[in-house]
Amino acid sequence: MKHYGGSPIRSHLLILFLSLSLSACFSYSDDLDVLLKLKHAMLAVSDDVALHDWTNSTSPTAHCSFSGVSCDEDARVVSISVTNVRLFGHIPPEIGLLTQLVNLTLTEDNLTGGVPLEMARLTSLRFLNLSANLLNSSFPGEILTGMTELEVLDVYNNNFSGLLPAQVAGMSKLRYLSLGGNFFSGDLPEAFSEVENLEFLGVQGTYFLWF
Ligand SMILES: *[C@@H]1O[C@H](CO)[C@@H](O)[C@H](O)[C@H]1NC(C)=O
Ligand SMILES: *[C@@H]1O[C@H](CO)[C@@H](O)[C@H](O)[C@H]1NC(C)=O
Ligand SMILES: *[C@@H]1O[C@H](CO)[C@@H](O)[C@H](O)[C@H]1NC(C)=O
Ligand SMILES: *[C@@H]1O[C@H](CO)[C@@H](O)[C@H](O)[C@H]1NC(C)=O
Ligand SMILES: *[C@@H]1O[C@H](CO)[C@@H](O)[C@H](O)[C@H]1NC(C)=O
Ligand SMILES: *[C@@H]1O[C@H](CO)[C@@H](O)[C@H](O)[C@H]1NC(C)=O
Repeated sequence: MKHYGGSPIRSHLLILFLSLSLSACFSYSDDLDVLLKLKHAMLAVSDDVALHDWTNSTSPTAHCSFSGVSCDEDARVVSISVTNVRLFGHIPPEIGLLTQLVNLTLTEDNLTGGVPLEMARLTSLRFLNLSANLLNSSFPGEILTGMTELEVLDVYNNNFSGLLPAQVAGMSKLRYLSLGGNFFSGDLPEAFSEVENLEFLGVQGTYFLWF
């Protein structure tokens, strides 16, 4: 039997090298840059007050003291909480680079547009609250597939349309699901009754018939 592609040791070293370079690519200093891109995309009004302390810096941990942001010991962002701030912009795809995020709370900010598919990379998320914005795309249920830690999904009061995300059925830790106050259509997927740990299911105010 012939071997193609070199010795196993060499390929293991290659994989190790690739993983190290990848983690080096997305280290703390990049999280600062990502947050500045987030600010630029989300902030569609010129406003001196909103996110005023989210500014560039040469300090590798500067972003950890941005208002509403907290980091882990490696200066990676684990939590963003921005509520009732005049934003009016959109959530950019770069958010998917904040791979250590556990808590993402962007509420009452008048954000429009969609939920980027890149959010599928946020596999550490436990709390996702986007409620009370003007998000007006369909909800890409496929981003939920890898979010195995997700406990809270709250998108109450937006302008989401399209089908309800059936992927929630696979989410064993989900205990709070609020999809109401949107324009979702279609039948309530049977899947919703299969979510094991669900304590709260909100679909009231969704413009479809549910008996
Ligand atoms: C922040 O500053 C660094 C150098 O000080 C620069 O390379 C980077 O492009 C700046 N980022 C933004 C978003 O302005
Ligand atoms: C998410 O983070 C915000 C800001 O730190 C905090 O107020 C909120 O309680 C957190 N949510 C949960 C469920 O821990
Ligand atoms: C969101 O928009 C509404 C309507 O324009 C406005 O009344 C409200 O103050 C805005 N909220 C924020 C946080 O800017
Ligand atoms: C999500 O945010 C809204 C608005 O800030 C808040 O009322 C709601 O309680 C939050 N949802 C959860 C599950 O904490
Ligand atoms: C959201 O829906 C309301 C009610 O239909 C509508 O007036 C508003 O223009 C919509 N906004 C966006 C951003 O889709
Ligand atoms: C979402 O709302 C924005 C702002 O009102 C509008 O420009 C855009 O066309 C809307 N997108 C969809 C998919 O309805």
